[in-house]
Amino acid sequence: MKGEIDLRKPLIAGNWKMNHTPTQALEMVRELLELGEFPSDVEGLLIPAFPALCPLVKELKETSIKLGAQNMSSEDQGAFTGEVSWDMLLDLQVDYVVLGHSERRKYFFESDEVIAKKVNKALEHKITPILCVGESLEERKAGDAKTRVKSQLQEALKEVTPDKMKEVVIAYEPIWAIGTGVSASAKDAQEMCQEIRNWVVDNFNQEVSEVVRILYGGSVKPSTIAELLEEVDVDGALVGGASLSAKDIYELLSQGSQND
Ligand code: PGA
Repeated sequence: MKGEIDLRKPLIAGNWKMNHTPTQALEMVRELLELGEFPSDVEGLLIPAFPALCPLVKELKETSIKLGAQNMSSEDQGAFTGEVSWDMLLDLQVDYVVLGHSERRKYFFESDEVIAKKVNKALEHKITPILCVGESLEERKAGDAKTRVKSQLQEALKEVTPDKMKEVVIAYEPIWAIGTGVSASAKDAQEMCQEIRNWVVDNFNQEVSEVVRILYGGSVKPSTIAELLEEVDVDGALVGGASLSAKDIYELLSQGSQND
């Protein structure tokens, strides 16, 4: 049973993408905090756009909800117009950063190489990377989904040591399921998350594979999260569209909890 694996607390993360101004984000979080207690057996994480991080840090300070960023530069500082560095994120007490999201790969041409640099940079400075991997519909139809996912893992994590690997969160997000309303079934999500965990055994070791958290993302809703989290290798969810309202976030956390 899933609840027995307390090494891996389920992580439920709301990726707001390019939605919510700082004012809207603040209003939403205030509404969320009014809704009641958050379950203690799941970790809640909000990932707003950069400008909203600042007001939310203060608002979430006394709560169990953590903050993440949607991206981070691979460089330390300097003449990189439009970029945000690790120390800017740490200054705002950001705990997590999403790296290699398929939208970054597709629209901003982020290569495996740059994603690897970012993962290393985040780990170096103790910001937990949420590394996104996932295949396209064509790749799945061609039977290449597992090969694709493993090659993304290989490239992004090739310089990571076993000790550092324990801190990495992997998000399996099939591209065909993102924002489409067509989620992978719990069984399909489990199959790939298990494949990823086996990859971690082969490329790191058994001990690392037992602590690494592997999330599923792609059209997750409050009504589907419990079933996903029942699967033994699914340790949480990265949620886009269904994390944009206070009510939905609260429902995701409540439905994801095994506490009655
Ligand atoms: P979605 O997005 O839940 O809207 O499909 C997931 C993601 O991109 O992380």
